[in-house]
Amino acid sequence: MNHSHTLGLLSLATALATAGHAHQATGIKLTEPTAHSITVWTRITREAERAADDGPLPITKLFDRTTGKDIPLRDNATYANARPELTFPPGASLATIRGAALGASGQTRVRYRPAGAATAAWTESAWRDVDPSRDFTATFALAQLTPGTRYTVTVEDRPRADAPVTSTTTGAFVTAPLANATATFAVMSCQQYEDRDRPDGFAIYPSMLALKPDFMVNTGDAVYYDHGPVHAINLDLARYHWARMYGFPTLRDFHRQVASFFMKDDHDTLTNDSHPEDRSGDFTFTEGLRVFREQTAPSEPPYRTLRWGRHLQVWFLEGRDFRSTSEADRKQTPTILGPTQIAWLERTLTASDATFRVIITPTPMVGPDRPQKDDNYANKGYVVEGTKIRALLARQPNLTVITGDRHWQYVSRDPATAIEEWSVGPATDAHAGGWSEDQPRPEHRFLRIKFGGFLSGSVAPSTATAPSALTLRLHDTAGKVIFTDTKPAQ
Ligand SMILES: [Fe+2]
Repeated sequence: MNHSHTLGLLSLATALATAGHAHQATGIKLTEPTAHSITVWTRITREAERAADDGPLPITKLFDRTTGKDIPLRDNATYANARPELTFPPGASLATIRGAALGASGQTRVRYRPAGAATAAWTESAWRDVDPSRDFTATFALAQLTPGTRYTVTVEDRPRADAPVTSTTTGAFVTAPLANATATFAVMSCQQYEDRDRPDGFAIYPSMLALKPDFMVNTGDAVYYDHGPVHAINLDLARYHWARMYGFPTLRDFHRQVASFFMKDDHDTLTNDSHPEDRSGDFTFTEGLRVFREQTAPSEPPYRTLRWGRHLQVWFLEGRDFRSTSEADRKQTPTILGPTQIAWLERTLTASDATFRVIITPTPMVGPDRPQKDDNYANKGYVVEGTKIRALLARQPNLTVITGDRHWQYVSRDPATAIEEWSVGPATDAHAGGWSEDQPRPEHRFLRIKFGGFLSGSVAPSTATAPSALTLRLHDTAGKVIFTDTKPAQ
């Protein structure tokens, strides 16, 4: 009997031994909180913990469909015309490769009640099967919640309807207040598995958690399908990217305790600067959209707005789904947001009576950015629409733009409109780069290259003598504030 055969039998035995348990190795996610509702995302896994990070890697090979030639893996590449071939080292499989956490069938339910109310009755969902066609996930829409209230939530799993509960995750969230209240939030971007800075994930998660934010916004590039030794050239590997990332203990611990809004960008949809008609190997942009929704439970449509008390309204922009194709761009003005989203943005901004307007965008609207890029409103290719959008934003009082995507932190002011943009930076120092000038340009109020971090914001309510105020801060990965500014309401 050869070595790989032995391992094969062993892993089969392991699978049989654990078939009686439903686990939550990829944790839970609490998404899209409002004053009255929230979504609970859950997934059943075969094992209690993701596979170790020193395990074997799958081998991906790509061949040109026309010439049959080998195509080497390259970061940021899109394999538009490639036949992928996926193999595993002896004894390894999708279940056991580095960081893997394969899904499993079973049942799940959610229980919740106001926190600290030990005598309050739990509200319980019915038991539901997780969906094998959606990577063994299930989502629960909790409704009729009380505004401005902290809740305890518990997700229970069992392998079958007649089996006892085999895993429980307990978490917490807060609903949006309606009145003159405080608001605290965190914004992050760009986390790459290979660039993690702790064995258990990413230092920014405990740093953000320590601030006890009401909610967190991930602006995109939550995974990098097109980087490292394993590119997501098919659906299984795309799901593998999510499992190995959200199985990290620091991420699990954060997402069970803080509600999130997930926005997508290019690397967590398909590949660098990708467009709706693109494909890479056997994985398409359309499948990328489906996997993103399956793994992060965003609300629809993907452009949306959130009210958090009297003073704060946040807009989440969608930067990939409504882009014009490069072919259409030869005949028309290139668009990023698309006409429907732009009309919605103008309508909702005009209708808002919030004190502060915070626009969160997956890619920059002000910049500056590098001259060779052609992906966002800070780039030449989108100057017409960019100018129009910046003029629209400039008509609003107390408005600030927060952007992800760029791998350096900055605060800049558009010379033409005075719109201010805060770039939250990459999730780790190892992922920083892209901007080499260490001296600020005239439009920079702040510039920090070579380091990662995140942004936090907080709204102080108005008092009898003072208006409400919005404070924004850029943090390093350990949570230390490296730049801050407080904006009293105008
Ligand atoms: Fe990125």
